[in-house]
Amino acid sequence: MIGVFDSGLGGLSVLIEIKMLAPNADLLYVADRARAPYGNRSLDEVRSMSHEVATWLIQQGAETLVVACNTASAAALDSLRESCQEIPIIGMEPAVKPAAAASETGVIGVFATKATFQGRLFESVVSDHAGNAQVVTRACPEWVEMVERGEFAGPDVDSTITAALIPMIDEGADVLVLGCTHFSFLRPVIERIAGPGITVIDPAPAVAAQTIRVAGVIGGEGRVRLAASGDPSVFARLASDVGIVYSSGEVLPFPE
Ligand code: DGL
Repeated sequence: MIGVFDSGLGGLSVLIEIKMLAPNADLLYVADRARAPYGNRSLDEVRSMSHEVATWLIQQGAETLVVACNTASAAALDSLRESCQEIPIIGMEPAVKPAAAASETGVIGVFATKATFQGRLFESVVSDHAGNAQVVTRACPEWVEMVERGEFAGPDVDSTITAALIPMIDEGADVLVLGCTHFSFLRPVIERIAGPGITVIDPAPAVAAQTIRVAGVIGGEGRVRLAASGDPSVFARLASDVGIVYSSGEVLPFPE
């Protein structure tokens, strides 16, 4: 069984990709919505929450763990790998490397959370992989909130995205990195507003492919189960909105 978690809806973008690559994988997803957003919290807080969620998933039988949250990866990937050495753990990192390779202007834009930009992971990804590219960053907590409200399109979504995106393009960015899993659900709007000359990179498919490589033989029955802290019925509605079909018919409570 593969355990996947995020603060909320965002990591489902990774789960969808895993499901596409390995339809028979058994998946258990935790949305820690009662404590979302993670991105405005301190890295210490996010680290301890990530350990709680990971421990619960392992207790439920997860044999591979996917930290489908850039913020939790920034805060906790190293310490999770240290304390749960018995299973492989896959995390997210902003796709600065492919972005720098694809950029013609030499300017790349990264959208993520405040906590992700504060972590050492982001610093090391930039110093190891940005090369000569200039990296322009923008924290977008309001994008996370829109997704958690189930708002993926409409005039308010357009204006919120325009306000963050246009200044980045004005600075010369021709490649934009989605450095928060929630933003995958806004990708169609981001691409439309950015226009045809701009490339948008979402690492979710690459992380899903890596998960399948690391998990090895997938011998499950294709069961998808969801768990959430906070009101499970709200998460059930949001998950259906993004097209998730889950086996048990209800969202399990994740103990806070
Ligand atoms: N989906 C998360 C990420 O990838 C975090 C969103 C949040 O809770 O702030 O960073």
